[in-house]
Amino acid sequence: MSTPHIDSKKNAFSETVLMCGDPIRARYIAENYLYDAKKINNIRLMLAYTGYFKNKKVSIMSHGIGMPSAVLYVRELILEYNVKNIIRVGTCGAVSNNIKLRDILISMGACTDSNINRISFNNYDFAAIANFEILNNAVSIAKKMNIQCSVGNFFTTDLFYNDDREVLNILKKYNILGIDMETAGIYAVALELNAKALSICTVSDHIIKKEAVEVKDRESGFDNMIKIALESTLLEY
Ligand code: HPA
Repeated sequence: MSTPHIDSKKNAFSETVLMCGDPIRARYIAENYLYDAKKINNIRLMLAYTGYFKNKKVSIMSHGIGMPSAVLYVRELILEYNVKNIIRVGTCGAVSNNIKLRDILISMGACTDSNINRISFNNYDFAAIANFEILNNAVSIAKKMNIQCSVGNFFTTDLFYNDDREVLNILKKYNILGIDMETAGIYAVALELNAKALSICTVSDHIIKKEAVEVKDRESGFDNMIKIALESTLLEY
């Protein structure tokens, strides 16, 4: 079977899929954390793998950059491949003075400057929120593993490059922790289709301090976040 963007067999995906923007990071996670990992999608090089993490079947797939890309993969996974749980393991920007590069941020909900959820939600404001069980599991696992993380609100933007001071000040004023380009869309599609979603991000860019993690680290340098996501798949949702 095949969808326009995923060319995998019917049962190729596990119920839980970790997703990230970068296909190279998906391959890194599969090669370094899963055993018996098989590549199950190659269309547009939007790599996907299924393998085992401590006897639990887990899939990893990239979703590309931005909501239009991420939401189409999430929709096809849920509707055509019976995926029930999506955990995004991504990167994000930050504006708060209290947040540093490589901090781990967990999104309880996500605001957006995009119109994408309004298109689906009759032009009303949609509260794009995480699934509580997966969120709770991730936080408990992080505590158990002694990995520091912060939980709060995200801002999902259509513009990676946006130096508008007014926007940055509003994000600071409203205590936005992480700025990414996918979470609000992923949460809305999961809620619409009765699936569960959580977004965990590592800070790769500090927008105010103008600091950024190196390109090589963006592909592979976020092991604590990956460990939290994978270990949380072992708990009940
Ligand atoms: N802005 C938006 N999305 C991002 C950023 C950013 O600075 N860093 C990683 N994803």
